[in-house]
Amino acid sequence: MTIDSRTGAAPAPTGPLSRVDYSERIPNNVDLAGDRRLQRALEGWQPKFLDWWKKLGPGLPTKDVYLRTAVAVGRDGWAHFDHVPMDEYRWGIFLAERDPDRKVNFGKHKGEPAWQEVPGEHRADLLRLIVVQGDTEPASVEQQRVLGNTAPSIYDLRNLFQVNVEEGRHLWAMVYLLHAYFGREGREEAEQLLKRNSGDLDAPRILAAFNEATTDWLQFFMFTYFTDRDGKYQLGTLKESAFDPLARTCEFMLKEEAHHMFVGTTGVQRVLERTAELMREHGTADVFPFGGISLDVIQKYLNFQFSVSMDLFGSEQSTNAGNYYTSGLKGRWMETRRKDDHVLLEATRELRYLEDGQIRTKTVPMLSALNLDLRDEYAADCAHGVRRWNQALEDAGLSERLYLPHEGFNRKVGVYAGHPITPHGEIIDEDTWQARAAEWLPTPEDRERVASLMVPEYEYGKFAGWIAPPKTGINDQPVEFDYVHLADEGLI
Ligand SMILES: [Fe+2]
Ligand SMILES: [Fe+2]
Repeated sequence: MTIDSRTGAAPAPTGPLSRVDYSERIPNNVDLAGDRRLQRALEGWQPKFLDWWKKLGPGLPTKDVYLRTAVAVGRDGWAHFDHVPMDEYRWGIFLAERDPDRKVNFGKHKGEPAWQEVPGEHRADLLRLIVVQGDTEPASVEQQRVLGNTAPSIYDLRNLFQVNVEEGRHLWAMVYLLHAYFGREGREEAEQLLKRNSGDLDAPRILAAFNEATTDWLQFFMFTYFTDRDGKYQLGTLKESAFDPLARTCEFMLKEEAHHMFVGTTGVQRVLERTAELMREHGTADVFPFGGISLDVIQKYLNFQFSVSMDLFGSEQSTNAGNYYTSGLKGRWMETRRKDDHVLLEATRELRYLEDGQIRTKTVPMLSALNLDLRDEYAADCAHGVRRWNQALEDAGLSERLYLPHEGFNRKVGVYAGHPITPHGEIIDEDTWQARAAEWLPTPEDRERVASLMVPEYEYGKFAGWIAPPKTGINDQPVEFDYVHLADEGLI
């Protein structure tokens, strides 16, 4: 367990343990059998989900995969590991335990009992929040569809599929809320979640970062590090929601998300370890000719993924965000552990903005700047991982370092949009940007060079030449474990 230095240790979990009912067609801990209408509606959606999974889920044919499946939501262990055919994965509906005494912890309803139903006045906003969150889950599966074809190892292939099935389950979690609490409108939105597709020109996914193709494994690792982490912070705000079923749903999703970010953190770290090894061995920074990915290209991938993920937080100042907070729909990161009045009517904060070609600071009402509050938490967390990666470079005896680009770099949303800024925070003109962007963002040639290294390595315990093996396997299994059985055994 990690302890967050900004807020202290997590509170101890409360509530009894509930087991998940696996005898049901849709495993759940929400007593689906007790609500026949809802059960039938979800059973009607299930085949559509499976069609979507077959069409746009992982493309590489497999027999089975060593996967984690949620089997309980309580405090001692919740997961079971086994080889399962992926399209028989038990996607289910699991909410964290209900705390019968839970209260609204912030905003104008602070102190009132948490809501078990959707209040009419907040229905439209809650529906929107759930749809936007829900849309990102299948989107990332679609983005990562072809990655299996170039997996650097069976271990990594398994991790990719684990992330994919869990994002599929997160879609289930959101669809459950839509079906259970939003009537016909909710059911229609649930259909749309399968109809919009990542990168589709006519019906794209809602948020821009989820329409970018995941072209290679370095980008996948950057995505799971930076973009899944955005998901963590968004879920963290919804986990505080006064609407209790949403809060409990997100709380459980966060458990699964931790592994996705582990894949990103360790993935990038292993790439760096290999790069550092090749740099030392050959005495050059250009390790592409030796089968590694050069540090400057790793930095460019980092710059790209961090900046598009920063855009996901929306404008720094947002009336909507303030209203969501005051109404109790969406809290702040670690809301209940913050030491203030949780109403924020008087609170202010500093906001950086651009004026006369300079970055300036002004004081604004806290309620107007909650997107920025969340984004700052996120950026601080991201910086943490970069320090860890730099430790790997230092351990390898190299003086080169990675860095997090300036918050204004390559932004399309908010105060920095339309203002070219270098990764080091220098404001430049458009011509300079055009002339120098290739130094900071991956060029088509960079992506091609990375792609040329992406050859599959399907032999158990072997790893492609551009990435170091992990220190340990999954769930105490050895690194060379048969995590995936491919459909075509001839490939192994
Ligand atoms: Fe997710
Ligand atoms: Fe995720």
